[in-house]
Amino acid sequence: MIKRLDGPPPEDAKRKLPQRLQDAGYLLACQCTPAEDMVLAPRSPEDMLTSCVLMQIDRPDNRICVLSFEAVSELEFTPGQHAQLLHPDWADPIGMELMGRDESTNWIQATVHIPDGPCPHWLTDSDAAFGVTFDLRGPFPVEPSQEVTPLPPDPELWTALDGGRTVRAVLESFYESVYADALLRPYFERVTMDRVIGKQYAFLMQSITGEAVYIGERPRNSHHWMVIPDSVFDHRQKLMLDAQQAHGLTEELIERWSRYEEQYRPDIVKYSPWARRIGDQLVETERYDSLVLGEATVCDYCALEIAAGTEVRYHVRLGQVGCKNCAPSLKTA
Ligand code: HEM
Repeated sequence: MIKRLDGPPPEDAKRKLPQRLQDAGYLLACQCTPAEDMVLAPRSPEDMLTSCVLMQIDRPDNRICVLSFEAVSELEFTPGQHAQLLHPDWADPIGMELMGRDESTNWIQATVHIPDGPCPHWLTDSDAAFGVTFDLRGPFPVEPSQEVTPLPPDPELWTALDGGRTVRAVLESFYESVYADALLRPYFERVTMDRVIGKQYAFLMQSITGEAVYIGERPRNSHHWMVIPDSVFDHRQKLMLDAQQAHGLTEELIERWSRYEEQYRPDIVKYSPWARRIGDQLVETERYDSLVLGEATVCDYCALEIAAGTEVRYHVRLGQVGCKNCAPSLKTA
């Protein structure tokens, strides 16, 4: 089963799939006789739903519960993978970590962290749990232990792209459409288009020519906090393809260029933020911490002046500082 990104899948190839997957663009490759070019992507875990029946809930303590359930169809997963529980009672997906199978019952077991606020009553009431049916979305890939090893350079490609002039022209058109795109625009909220074009150009030049011209983070760390599911990555690649085609690049050149982007999919696609990695250390940056100000500043939230020597809260990744009025709303995690 694969997914078509640039239009509806052919009728013959989608007919045997459930309506939901047809609507999401899926088709069966083995049933498909293509009549035109199609942009295809592998199946994405966010589109995969498995019906499940809850058998039991245990609560080892107040913060977590362990769900035991049966999947109605085959569910392949590796212990440690994350998934989401979807139930009509509850608008938001409930995150869970798949632990494995109970040896005697063969039930799948997963842990759920119980939220501070309200949650579905059957999640905390063991007696009400038996027989609750839900959909499991996923499972999602776990963070790879190794970063992607970059492809060797292809300097002839750079020459064929007019010594980089075509790359810059394509990037300018591409980011015009990214900044006008409802799905991608929010990621670029704090970044100017010039900056990102410059970074992307230098990164591609270094990757393709092998010359050390790029100063910046590797893709694993520059995107570590961004939740970019496969569908968003695919959508980005489709906009890139449109820009490359609009500038008249041949299929062969597009394929050679795309390799340098596609290779980073495992370092960029994720379903929850990753900690920043510095050597072997993982640093959580999506949180607030405290410090005593060495110099006076203004609050980034209400613009009130804050005197030197004041203890303030700040966001670890963004560096935004909050005054005493705003600080109470800035949680630790
Ligand atoms: C849907 C996919 C992607 C999204 C939403 C995305 C988003 C972003 C954003 C918002 C930034 C600016 C970060 C900052 O300056 O704070 C950025 C930087 C960057 N991205 Fe992506 N990106 C995506 C895919 C890719 C791909 C496929 C590549 C590989 C070629 C890539 C390479 C880079 C590089 C090299 C930077 C500069 C890092 C730095 O400033 O040090 N991105 N990206």
